[in-house]
Parts: sequence; C-alpha cells; structure tokens
Amino acid sequence: MIIARNAAELPAREQGAHRAVVMTMGALHDGHLALVRRARELADQVVVTIFVNPLQFNEAADLDRYPRTLDADCALLEPLGVDAVFAPSVDEMYPGGAPTVTVSAGAIGDVLEGAHRPGHFDGVLTVVLKLLHLTSPNVALFGAKDAQQVIAVRAMVRDLAVPVEIEAVGTVRDPDGLALSSRNVHLSARERGEALILSRALLAAAEAARNGGAAPDVLATGRAVLAQRPPASAVRVDYLEAIDPLTAMAVAEDYRGEAVIAVAARVGATRLIDNVTVTIGEEE
Ligand code: PAF
Repeated sequence: MIIARNAAELPAREQGAHRAVVMTMGALHDGHLALVRRARELADQVVVTIFVNPLQFNEAADLDRYPRTLDADCALLEPLGVDAVFAPSVDEMYPGGAPTVTVSAGAIGDVLEGAHRPGHFDGVLTVVLKLLHLTSPNVALFGAKDAQQVIAVRAMVRDLAVPVEIEAVGTVRDPDGLALSSRNVHLSARERGEALILSRALLAAAEAARNGGAAPDVLATGRAVLAQRPPASAVRVDYLEAIDPLTAMAVAEDYRGEAVIAVAARVGATRLIDNVTVTIGEEE
C-alpha cells in the first residue's frame, strides 16, 4: 500500500482501470471500513484520502482536538487491499493558506448542519472537489450518516458536471443502535448511553412512516421520543427534521415519497448527527 503525501506519489491510473476513492478525515472506524470494502467491490484500484480539512471546521478547538491517527488508520486499511492512502499536509493542500476560490454549497449549506456551522459545507465541497481532481476516481463513496454532505456532494457533481459517480453507503451502528462516528471517542460512558435516544427517535419516526403517517406525524413521533429525556440530560437537541433527499430542504406537510429524517444534538461537548431514510405518506 502506497502512502502518498502529494498527488505525484499516487499510483498512475492504468489504462481502462476503474478507480474508487473513499475520502476521510482519518480516525477510521467500521463505518469507514464498510466504505472501503464497498469500494473494493466496485473498482480495480482503491484510494483512501486522509486529510483533516481546516476549511470545514468552525471552531479552532474542534479542529485541534480532532483525532489524528495515521499509523493506526493505515494498519486498518492495508489488509483491505487498499492500493494507496493519500495523506497530504495542510500546506500541500492549501499552499499559501486558505484558497481564494472556493465552492459554494448554496442553499444546501444554509440549513440544518449548515445553519449550525456556517461555511461548513463550502469547506467540504471545496476539499472534495480538489481531492477528486487530485485522485481522478471513477467513483467516490461517502457515508450515508452524513446525509446532508451526500446531498451537497451530489448537487455539486450534478451542477458542475464533475465526471464521477457518487455512491452512498449505509450507516454502520453499534449493536445498541449508536451510529459510528469518529466523534464518539469523546463521549463519556454516561453521554454515550444518553446518546442512544437519537437512534431511538429515528426508529420511532421510521415506524410512524411505515405505518403511513404524514410528515407532521412522523416528526411528532420522533420528537416525542426526544422529549422523554430527563431535565438533567447531557443531550441538547438541535433539530429533528424531515428533508427532501435531493435538496436538503424541509418537506411540506403533505409531502409523499422518500425523505431523510435527520437529527442533530450536542451530547455533552460532542455534536452528533444521525438519520434514517423513510417513505412518507405511502402505507406499506
Ligand atoms: O466526511 C468527512 O470525513 C469529510 O467531510 C470529507 C468528505 C472527508 C471532506 O473533508
């Protein structure tokens, strides 16, 4: 497995070879490894990028404490048959500091996570586009847990005619339902236990949708579960919303079709997000 610090060190894409890229910020867990395994099924060559992208962090403290575990990450990737890890430095990616020209996520960047983290999705799209140029994949894989990120990346690829296929891979969960995230390491045992209310709320909302509930019923069901947390809970909910999977905008009350129920909360000092895809307004 090649560990490339700049694009010139990446292996050339052989004539006719199909290349997949999995973009990460490192601190890899089973969710990332599921992306890599799927990439291995799809392509002859698999490149994993590991880069903690300063452009997408709003708080310097959050950027500083983001776990950086390159050696451990590489040890997880090598047995999966990854051809190359692309792990550039910040100077390599942004020589001369923050780029002058960036990608705007438009309205997608203003809602939900974007409302809580202004500029976050512009930072994500800017690095994703640059990494796509540097790694030249046929397909790029992203975790469905970051639903709004997947929506933004798909919109960029569509709107800017970027020649790559985007595949979203389902969220990997611990047996008790907690969605895997690199941020989970920051949760205390008590916070981790309390965080389970997020996946429970999503499960309840998904069941309401399966039973034919309209959007307001689905949301009320999920929010009712969240409201059961005790007053001293470490969980501070930011939102539980039903969004259109193409635009990330909240769906109308009479919406029918596929929707993403997205939830976000601070659990102690750690911000967690999770989601589930449902079909609204069509009883199964
Ligand atoms: O999902 C992530 O880890 C990051 O947002 C990504 C896509 C690697 C861009 O920095």
